Amino acid sequence: MRGMTTPAAVIVDAAAYAQAVEDAVSAAAAYYKGGTSPLDDDTYDRLVRGIADWEAEHPGQTLPGSPTGKVAGGAVEGDVPHTVPMLSLDNVFSAEEFTAWTASLSRRIGRDARRFSVGPKLDGLAIAARYSGGRLTRLITRGDGTAGEDVSHAIGTIEGLPEKLDEPVTVEVRGEVLMTADQFAHANEVRTGHGGQPFANPRNAAAGTLRARERVYTVPMTFFGYGLLPLPDTGTALAERLNALAHSELMALAADLGVHTSARTAVPDIVAETPEEVLVRVKEIAALRAELPFGIDGIVIKADLAADRQAAGSGSRAPRWAIAYKLPAVEKITRLLEVEWNVGRTGIIAPRGVLEPVVIDGSTITYATLHNPADITRRDLRLGDHVMVHRAGDVIPRIEAPVAHLRTGEEQPIEFPAQCPRCGSDIDTGEERWRCAQGRNCHLVASLAYAAGRDQLDIEGLGATRVVQLVEAGLVADLADLFGLRRDQLLALERMGETSTDNLLAAIAKAKEQPLSRVLCALGVRGTGRSMSRRIARYFATMDTLRAADAEAMQRVEGIGAEKAPSIVAELAELAPLIDKLAAAGVNMTEPGATPPPPADAAPDGDGPAAAPAEGGPLDGMTVVVTGAMTGSLEKLSRNEMNELVERAGGRSSSSVSKKTTLVVAGEGAGSKRAKAEQLGVRLATPDEFATLVAAFLD
Ligand code: IVH
Repeated sequence: MRGMTTPAAVIVDAAAYAQAVEDAVSAAAAYYKGGTSPLDDDTYDRLVRGIADWEAEHPGQTLPGSPTGKVAGGAVEGDVPHTVPMLSLDNVFSAEEFTAWTASLSRRIGRDARRFSVGPKLDGLAIAARYSGGRLTRLITRGDGTAGEDVSHAIGTIEGLPEKLDEPVTVEVRGEVLMTADQFAHANEVRTGHGGQPFANPRNAAAGTLRARERVYTVPMTFFGYGLLPLPDTGTALAERLNALAHSELMALAADLGVHTSARTAVPDIVAETPEEVLVRVKEIAALRAELPFGIDGIVIKADLAADRQAAGSGSRAPRWAIAYKLPAVEKITRLLEVEWNVGRTGIIAPRGVLEPVVIDGSTITYATLHNPADITRRDLRLGDHVMVHRAGDVIPRIEAPVAHLRTGEEQPIEFPAQCPRCGSDIDTGEERWRCAQGRNCHLVASLAYAAGRDQLDIEGLGATRVVQLVEAGLVADLADLFGLRRDQLLALERMGETSTDNLLAAIAKAKEQPLSRVLCALGVRGTGRSMSRRIARYFATMDTLRAADAEAMQRVEGIGAEKAPSIVAELAELAPLIDKLAAAGVNMTEPGATPPPPADAAPDGDGPAAAPAEGGPLDGMTVVVTGAMTGSLEKLSRNEMNELVERAGGRSSSSVSKKTTLVVAGEGAGSKRAKAEQLGVRLATPDEFATLVAAFLD
């Protein structure tokens, strides 16, 4: 858990102070009046703390409108007076601050504070529910703390707040109204279905819904009780009893009366005897936060005993007997830059949002899940939108909704793919979740198309469309089947004439001669792209030696560490039948120019030899970076082929220029890498000069 919150905003002068007050007041107004604040909670908190800091340093200059020291930042008023003020809570952000608070509480009550009630700080809105003779008669918001707004119209839409208690008592139940994740999803569905803008998060949704009158639809919310107090006409006996009960006893009574409390959740309020026990519970609740079906933004710790509460008393803004231990914010507003479409193992095409990087609880978030195209349409998301991003624990970050009132008009519609982004086939859009028409075969199509690609087996004429044809006709079920294709089978396919058939067969036959590095790359073992495949192939020289390698041997290849090695070994073992089938089909399984390493027991300890580049070549011992467009005799070579050439000639290929670089081959349009080489004094060569240097190795 993070110890401290993000720092307060820095306010430099009186003008900045006035501006900050204005910003905070308008954000608080939007927040409490059911709209969507342009500031996320964390940013708002920082702003208010900055305002408080400035006011502390400039006594007497506090503006009357300042949000400091006011319930709800002074943003709201109401016309129904509260019998007992509805206060805010002071915050702590770390174990140290909490311990300091318990010490000040002990001083205040003149004895060691003990017995604390510890429970979740629910992220919704405070509400007072008045019961008369057991009947729910009135619902009032917190307002400015002394008077709130009558929202009795919401009676009947709030689960956990019964219209009739189990006893005919006259009491006020206080608690939090919120939307659970399911209720929030439902609310947005209904709202957008009625042409409205979606709410940015459950809290805004609850606030907006609670205040809305005369809506043609209703959406449910949930209530959690956290207080029970007498009203003026409660009868003396009950009033005295309530005032004498410990908080934990009051909550048990509320539950007995039929009110929903935290007791029925995964994070019930508990009584802790000591501050240390409180901190243990704080950790437990924090750990459960991500899995809760409702939002919490902290833990509330209260002196449990009535006598302690009375002795501690309250300030104008917050009681002294309770404190909120705030948890790091899990929501931030950032911008949606792009949407990527990824195809899963089953062929489901899922959108993923690319975000302007934003730090949430110490991690930089750049991606967030989006559900499906229908959901994007429903929520009216656009590129460039400000979006509320939610990330709790290890759960994948998600985009809650656009913050519609921050739109500039520059936002662009999100384009949906017309073809499967993985294999190019049609898309089945019949269901909400789109799926590649190839279904599970999509991966096969994609992996075959990849294997046939220019940097792998380089089979000309075997693009995604043709692969789809082959798979659909049932002619290939794996990579090795390609090498068994017959002329008559190909000729029977649509759009396959004699010439294209013969060309394809010739290209497939030629592919059998590819070096081991490319065969390995074609297999698509995770973590072995083009350059890693070359390194592995050069080190082991033959597929047999490679397959005989255990994780320890695998780690002798430069760049393969303790984590990657076992997964490569395991994946190769999994691919054994396919590799056997490829070998049986006559596919080459050796790396020209490389020799297998000595047997394991002869290998020296430690790191062992690095993947051996060809010895005695003109680039022996050199680290070479290729950048820019190649010209002359190298013009047709892809970057991968250039790297292969570097390694054939004894060098190491690298993609970034550093002090260790010995040569930079800079082609046309070379930019930053060339500049860096010049700055570091690394030797530069033109493509022509380089071609002369490695002439003997050009095929
Ligand atoms: S007790 C005198 N318990 O947090 C105030 N409040 O930031 C005593 N809140 O206004 C409140 N969960 O709306 C209490 N378990 C909980 C709470 C809780 C959420 C809210 C409440 C309060 C706000 C202060």
